[in-house]
Amino acid sequence: MTTVQDIRSHGEDDAPITMLTAYDTPTARIVEEAGVDVVLVGDSMGNAVMGHDSTLPVTMADVESRAGAVARGVEDALVVADMPFLSYGADEGDAVENAGRLLSEAGADAVKLECGPHTVELTERLVNLGIPVMAHLGFTPQHVQQYGGYGRRATTREEAREVLELAEAHADAGAFSLVVEHVPANVAAQITDALAIPTIGIGAGPDTDGQVLVITDVLGLSERAPPFAEQFGDVATEMREAVDGYREAVEDGEFPAAEHGHGDADLDDL
Ligand code: KIV
Ligand code: NA
Repeated sequence: MTTVQDIRSHGEDDAPITMLTAYDTPTARIVEEAGVDVVLVGDSMGNAVMGHDSTLPVTMADVESRAGAVARGVEDALVVADMPFLSYGADEGDAVENAGRLLSEAGADAVKLECGPHTVELTERLVNLGIPVMAHLGFTPQHVQQYGGYGRRATTREEAREVLELAEAHADAGAFSLVVEHVPANVAAQITDALAIPTIGIGAGPDTDGQVLVITDVLGLSERAPPFAEQFGDVATEMREAVDGYREAVEDGEFPAAEHGHGDADLDDL
């Protein structure tokens, strides 16, 4: 069993923390069987598996449904569910209820928040209530409209300092780990050095305490993967071959065959 305390106490000499997203039960099972430490039910589901071109349309209902599916496929890995756009930050009571439901109903072990100055108090409140929080800083995709597009964050000293200070504030508020997304490697390295909690990077270089990627990018199922992702397999080709094989077998009259158990029942003509 991987707990939030196992992640929090990750030491410098420990193997890097591994985290991957999953959005359904069979994929979550495979991720867990591979020994990945953390399964993230990311709001990247919007782009990855729901056909949206950002994470903004993803709702609480979407994340609850997908987190439930993932949690049912996982026994040992830590399941973290993203809080989707506007499910937190507007009303504190709603935020607490939404986060709580991801644990008590969907079965997640922790929630992840895209952070800013407005989430420090919320992090403390959630942690005090027993809802573990993974913080997320750097490029936070729910702010894509505010940023004016996709691109690396914390590239100036001023912005890098701001991210470092927010990272420290969220660690002090009780977050058990921090995702740093799409920032320069030296910025991620300095944040990692400064923080008592582990950092998990994506597009943030090799010097974080762990790495995270979106599963469809890893599997070769994404239409477009970001330049910092790496494709470790070609599942799309496998799927195309399987689907083609099925279609051909039906069209050629080869499926179903006798071994598929479609024998006759002993009855008179209808
Ligand atoms: O939604 C997501 O998959 C994420 C990771 C990329 C960190 O937030
Ligand atoms: Na996310």
